[in-house]
Amino acid sequence: MNNKRKKRKLNKKRIIFLVLFTILIIIIVYMFFSKPKNRNLKNKGYSNLEIVEIEKLTKSEINTILKYDYDKNLIYIIKSENYNPNKLDMYLKYTLKYKDVDYLKIFELINNENFVNKNIDDYVNLLKKYNNVESIIKYINNYNDSDVDLNEDILSIIGEKYFIDDYFDRYVNYYNKNKNLPLSEIITRVNAKLDYTFYDDSKEADLSKDMYTLVNKFYYLAENYIPDELVDVTGIYARDKAQLKKIAFENFVKMADDAKKDGLTIKVTTGYRSYNFQSILYNNYVKIDGVKNADTYSARPGYSEHQLGYSVDITNKNNVSFDEFENTDEYNWLQKNAYKYGFIQRYPKDKEYITGYVFESWHYRYVGEDIAKYIYENNITYEEYYEYFLR
Ligand code: DAL
Ligand code: ZN
Repeated sequence: MNNKRKKRKLNKKRIIFLVLFTILIIIIVYMFFSKPKNRNLKNKGYSNLEIVEIEKLTKSEINTILKYDYDKNLIYIIKSENYNPNKLDMYLKYTLKYKDVDYLKIFELINNENFVNKNIDDYVNLLKKYNNVESIIKYINNYNDSDVDLNEDILSIIGEKYFIDDYFDRYVNYYNKNKNLPLSEIITRVNAKLDYTFYDDSKEADLSKDMYTLVNKFYYLAENYIPDELVDVTGIYARDKAQLKKIAFENFVKMADDAKKDGLTIKVTTGYRSYNFQSILYNNYVKIDGVKNADTYSARPGYSEHQLGYSVDITNKNNVSFDEFENTDEYNWLQKNAYKYGFIQRYPKDKEYITGYVFESWHYRYVGEDIAKYIYENNITYEEYYEYFLR
């Protein structure tokens, strides 16, 4: 009896010991395998709250973090929607290396697809002085070797909407001579070649652009250039005998038919004009008005868009003169609707300095619906559109 009890007691002890031992082993194993990072992170200086966030990352990310000293910006970085795990090493390396630079700029720099992880010091030197990270990257990548005296304005120019990479030096030159101008104006003017002289710096128009060819005071057509596919504008669509490129005519017809539905009549007065005819016109104007004045409203021979066949001068059913057209319902209708048929007002008000011609309410150019819509919605000239999108 006594012996049996003793035996049972011993068994009980053994079981308790085994249970406790197992628990101990589990605790040790648990501590050994699941908590080392936690402890290491703590040793680095991360708080419990920070560790909770860090532990949501993958093992390899945590190992990367453990390679570096404590980074007080780490949590912001890993919780940012722009966080890229593949760049974690770089984030840590550079935010810790350049502690005197706003870490948000470093973060933006590293995230930018054009950032080249090679000239980091060059980028950072500019990040210290300026805010426009995107422009800084462009500057370092493209113009680091230029001898430009960089400043905030020049970086802003790089960030402008219609900035063209190749024209950087021209923008800077123009800016240095015109510091009073808004920066967007510097872009507009250089893109429209206004840093050159009308007619003096001209070259042959690029006819490979087909119906998008730009003809203006910088781009001329050869004396013998006659467009193909000219069609006669006849009947109710013409005031006099006129010709247009087929596609321009077809769209003019659609436009005129729709205007008709609104009770309005639009007619072509002039479409295509030959080099010789332009020559006669221009020389006449010069006789009457002198070169300087004539140049404000008439193209020199070869420089008229009418020679392309895509331009049209418009009047209404009363055959009002050019000067009166601006005050007609037809003009107002065209203002709102011409772009839907692919036509743009080619020489608008307030853009005389860009086009080189006074406002011509009657002169429209066919460029197709998409481009016409863009030009209409963004209130730019064909000069600006062409240089940025089509050149
Ligand atoms: N009146 C326009 C500019 C031309 O002569 O072509
Ligand atoms: Zn015209």
